[in-house]
Amino acid sequence: MCGIVGCVSKENCYEKILSTLSGLEYRGYDSAGIAMLSSSKTLNVRKKKGYVSNLKGKPLPGETGIGHTRWATHGKPSDANAHPHVSGKFALVHNGIVENFRALKGELLEQGEEFLSETDSEVIVKLIAKAYRGDFFEAVVKACERLEGSYALAVLCSDDPGEIIGVRQGSPLVAGAAPDALYLCSDVPALCGAAEFICPASDGEFIRIRDGNICFCDGNGREICKEFSRVPPESRSSSVMSGTFMEKEIAEIPRALSDTFKSLSATDFAPCARILRGARHVYAVACGTALHAAQAFGDIAESEVRCPVSCFAASEFRYRDPLIGRDDLLVAVSQSGETADTLQAARLAKERGAYVLAVTNIAQSSLASLADFTIVMRAGSEIAVAATKSYNCQLLCLYYLAAQMKYYRVQEFPDWFSQFSSLSSAAEEVFACFPQMSALAAKFKDARGMFYLGRGLDVRTAAEGALKVKEIAYVFAEGYAAGELKHGTLALIEEGFPVFAVSTCSALASKTENALAEAKARGARTVLFSQNVSALSESCADFKCALPVIHEKLMPILAVIPLQYFACRMCLLRGFDPDKPRNLAKSVTVE
Ligand code: M6R
Repeated sequence: MCGIVGCVSKENCYEKILSTLSGLEYRGYDSAGIAMLSSSKTLNVRKKKGYVSNLKGKPLPGETGIGHTRWATHGKPSDANAHPHVSGKFALVHNGIVENFRALKGELLEQGEEFLSETDSEVIVKLIAKAYRGDFFEAVVKACERLEGSYALAVLCSDDPGEIIGVRQGSPLVAGAAPDALYLCSDVPALCGAAEFICPASDGEFIRIRDGNICFCDGNGREICKEFSRVPPESRSSSVMSGTFMEKEIAEIPRALSDTFKSLSATDFAPCARILRGARHVYAVACGTALHAAQAFGDIAESEVRCPVSCFAASEFRYRDPLIGRDDLLVAVSQSGETADTLQAARLAKERGAYVLAVTNIAQSSLASLADFTIVMRAGSEIAVAATKSYNCQLLCLYYLAAQMKYYRVQEFPDWFSQFSSLSSAAEEVFACFPQMSALAAKFKDARGMFYLGRGLDVRTAAEGALKVKEIAYVFAEGYAAGELKHGTLALIEEGFPVFAVSTCSALASKTENALAEAKARGARTVLFSQNVSALSESCADFKCALPVIHEKLMPILAVIPLQYFACRMCLLRGFDPDKPRNLAKSVTVE
């Protein structure tokens, strides 16, 4: 959803901006640009459609600069729509959406302004230039007063070399400090390696970098006292030597599970004991992959804790006027902790007096700062747009939460609780089926559609497997409850149509098998995934993938791994980049 960066250094900082932008590229890669301001008050801009790497070349001169990597909202990906946008003495980069930009643009057009782009962002830089009376800060504040929507901005003024003004309203912004440079940036991981200390801004705060200092202030210029913290080692940006980030991140699942498990401690839950014990109704909200994890939590928590759990796509929760109130618990799940819909759902829950518990991978995220209590999973940085290891770790954290809730209510842990420590080695065992997944991907690479079936908890795994193959291999897939097949979608099965079934729940294995047999009888090429030896031996499936044996309730954490890998292989065989799927971005910070 666009990444922004600003840097002030003692020497030329073009390369610093370029390298920080590469770390932000997962937020969007439709276009990229950099504006540099030199001590001689000259502004130079380089911006191009496509990847950040297109900006490589002779560094533009300057010790102050801003950069942007774009996920297009207003206007197609093009050089002209790329940021930074310039008006008079000002250059600006923006992450977010200006909701009243049409009205503002109309007003500016009437005043004779001409626009070079179709973006909402160009309106902001024009407002700043028009408001300028010689005071840079005042002009930015005045322009922001006219904006509705969400924004994180970094702005340069050619009258003030060595100065950047940033502001945060609804989109993330972090300040970073290193001995040789001061930064603004959309997120912490991209600053790692560059900055040593970081401090996130809150909504409504301005950040001024000037005279070698970083100062947080409000719109009246009153300083806000903030504390910088050392960059956490686990958020350091990773790099990939060969292969793709997605392959690397799948390979990291065992370690991520083990790190997450080691970081979870029952005593940490003491601050939320009251709500775990007494919550009347539990709500779980999230988007995309995280929603599948939240739904699995709903299944597990309701059956173990015997308390009603309702799961919603965060984007829907906000607008359905939910009954949530005091004594209710909202569990908000988000790898990035910056997903706009999830944040809004959490804000709504807080406004209504509910307790908000966050599960996130980023301890300094917006979600973590607004939640009453946060479980930080230790998946490590996840760069590929397709979520993989974060999903396995989300599930682990959510199972752990369900177990704590049960304990607080009936002083008893679920019988699967003792098997968490085996998950990491079991995940490694799953890797044994990767050659089989590669072979299946080669067989199915030209498929026009696929079905993923499951029953019980396996429905969540099926949905996640289908999402992965849609997202990166661009193959349409449906993932749903196997029992639904004969209520409509069976009509789509024709000769050779791939149908994958996940069957890890022994009580439902024969029912899943029936659905698979019905599909096969109509010409489908079928694949069964199970840890259940008799389900595998009795199955009519064309291909069978044996999963390691662990308590069956924990199987969703493992059974998804072959599906993640299969999607990655499909993507590569079809000639696409799994790390940067078209039209998507890692962090969806707009509604
Ligand atoms: O950062 P979040 O977990 O809140 O992101 C939510 C979704 O945007 C995300 O899981 C998305 O569905 C993944 N790209 C899917 O692989």
